[in-house]
Amino acid sequence: MAPRHILRSTDLSGIELQKLFWSAYELEKASEHTLAETTIAILFYEPSTRTMLSFASAVQRLGGNTIVTANAKEFSSAAKGENLQDTIQTIGCYADAIVLRHPDVGSAALAASVSTVPIINAGDGSNEHPTQAFLDLYTIWKALREGHLENRLRLVFFGDNAFSRTVRSLCLLLAEHSSTLSIALESVRFCGIHPYSEPPPEVKEALSKAHITTEYDDGALPENMDVLYVTRPQTERHQSGSVPASFMVPNYALALLNPKAIIMHPLPRVNELPRHFDDDPRMWIFKQVENGLYIRMALLEMLLC
Ligand code: NCD
Repeated sequence: MAPRHILRSTDLSGIELQKLFWSAYELEKASEHTLAETTIAILFYEPSTRTMLSFASAVQRLGGNTIVTANAKEFSSAAKGENLQDTIQTIGCYADAIVLRHPDVGSAALAASVSTVPIINAGDGSNEHPTQAFLDLYTIWKALREGHLENRLRLVFFGDNAFSRTVRSLCLLLAEHSSTLSIALESVRFCGIHPYSEPPPEVKEALSKAHITTEYDDGALPENMDVLYVTRPQTERHQSGSVPASFMVPNYALALLNPKAIIMHPLPRVNELPRHFDDDPRMWIFKQVENGLYIRMALLEMLLC
């Protein structure tokens, strides 16, 4: 049987996504060693703290084993010139699934084309980061369920919407499945600093096809925000490498958020989100981190058990 890969945030059906969220919700309370005798390879060609360690922790909590190459560019045979396909076929002999992060757009799909075991895309360049999108949407879903948000959301993306794979994957997921999950969107607005504030054309198109009202604005944040999703400048993907100095959420943003609202950020943050915001209960960035663990546990169980 062909292995099931997760390459894009839209690779799960609406029913599977609901199942994923409910099982993550259950896993927050208790888990079993459902991955005993299972080995997961973690193959990262780009830096990571959360994605890599939350996958490792997820596997261990489910009783499985990990084999890890955290700096694959230097420490795998890629440094000797081996191509990704050969590396993937080799690791498929040792592991039951491969979690892959790679700087090239399309690398996860390339890996999947030769892999005998499931590939989970943990970020391929500026393209997709599906598990981050699952945990981001799970965070919104949970906030709604638990009364920290009221439905008909005004969602604002502030930051590098042009190059952020987390913005891209989350928007594509929202376009496909927000209504399945009964998450109603009043509007989605993209703010940031020119020329990075607008998302790529495929994202605009997907949102418009889903009849989601979108707004574009270089600078200004609107009033009555429910979800403020911030991203850092993706400098490693900018041609000039120059970052506008004012790439920062203004202090007055807190006053523009509804009393029931959440601030999100996939992390790492650099200077775009003031540290004193951490004192505000609407700051949910570390709740996202925690949710990521349970979502990844739930996904591994869905794929491998
Ligand atoms: C993001 C990524 O790698 O795309 N981080 C993450 O996985 N949580 C965001 C970023 O690097 O800006």
